[in-house]
Amino acid sequence: MTILVTGGAGFIGSNFVLDWLATCDEAVVNVDKLTYAGNLQNLASVQHDARHVFVRGDIVDYDLVLGLLQRHGIRAVVNFAAESHVDRSIHGPEDFIQTNIVGSFRLLEAVRAYWGNLDADARAAFRFLHVSTDEVYGSLAIGEPPFAETHPYQPNSPYSASKAASDHLVRAYHHTYGLPVLTTNCSNNYGPYHFPEKLIPLCIQNALSGKPLPIYGDGQQIRDWLYVQDHCSAIRRVLEDGRLGEVYNIGGWNEKANLDVVKTLCTMLDELQPRSDGKPYAEQIVFVTDRPGHDRRYAIDARKLERELGWRPVETFETGIRKTVAWYLAHQDWVANVMSGDYQSWLDKNYEDR
Ligand code: NAD
Ligand code: TYD
Repeated sequence: MTILVTGGAGFIGSNFVLDWLATCDEAVVNVDKLTYAGNLQNLASVQHDARHVFVRGDIVDYDLVLGLLQRHGIRAVVNFAAESHVDRSIHGPEDFIQTNIVGSFRLLEAVRAYWGNLDADARAAFRFLHVSTDEVYGSLAIGEPPFAETHPYQPNSPYSASKAASDHLVRAYHHTYGLPVLTTNCSNNYGPYHFPEKLIPLCIQNALSGKPLPIYGDGQQIRDWLYVQDHCSAIRRVLEDGRLGEVYNIGGWNEKANLDVVKTLCTMLDELQPRSDGKPYAEQIVFVTDRPGHDRRYAIDARKLERELGWRPVETFETGIRKTVAWYLAHQDWVANVMSGDYQSWLDKNYEDR
């Protein structure tokens, strides 16, 4: 048996592929376009593993995806491929529409064609799992209950709107064609291989390089944080036993204000790699112009997943963040490699006028 993973060279996808191959014998075909966010270095440890087949390709390419499904006799698809950074979606939404909406549509079309030709047993066993985000639900006020699966969709950024569109397509393919789909909506992930444009790895890296730690607005925006391996175990659990057509929210029960997250990182770095001048890293914190349309609070109610499938996260924020900081300190070569010329020009674009 073989599964197809899309976007498996990105942050969560590569963690998922590594975890998958470490925990079971089933082969993985990994199709990834290798945008700025995709990095084969993440997969170096499985480069020579016969169970891992990497294909550089775009999910928009119907023929390519259909060929992979047929050639490898795929029994399940896990769709991670996406443009994922809110700030980039504000500067240039086009790629988000292309990959997150058109790409998901073409992928669904290829899967529908393939699945429709399977024999009855294979059709019944087939799964399409779509990996999505809590950002589709919009923003919560302080004191409002966390997002349940029934919360109305109110996406506020081009990123979350494009993910919401893909979630709706996935739902419609189940309702209309009976495609055996599952959707997961997860909160903010952190951990190894996180591209250093996102808050946590950016601040670790800036701290170590003596640069400012940029806090958008007042830093009181709240996110729920989940260690990436907990996200991977939740996806495996939903793939195994999730009810067809259902949505499962995944979260870490770790609501934190951005400023507190960055202060925690600073304290941890003070302990693990103190500044050469002995001063605290928190001195590098600066407040910068806010993100347009910045969602104030996300919080996830993950009780359905616990009730139906017995999943709970293993890591607390404290244990997960310690592992993460230690990983970045031990993998500065990885960071240096991903911080290419292209990435430097993004940093100029996003931070120069703030
Ligand atoms: P990422 O940006 O790190 O990785 C995305 C991967 O997809 C990259 O390897 C990229 O090369 C690939 N890709 C992009 N366009 C493609 C295309 N057209 N065809 C094939 N491959 C393509 O993103 P991530 O943080 O790993 O997120 C993975 C998924 O999880 C996304 O769907 C995202 O919306 C969702 N998600 C992310 C978070 C988070 O906190 N990072 C939280 C919840 C949900
Ligand atoms: P990010 O990691 O981009 O994830 P998302 O926007 O998907 O939640 O940002 C997490 C939070 O941190 C978000 O509220 C924006 C904020 N943020 C900053 O304050 N400064 C930064 O430099 C970045 C990248 C993010």
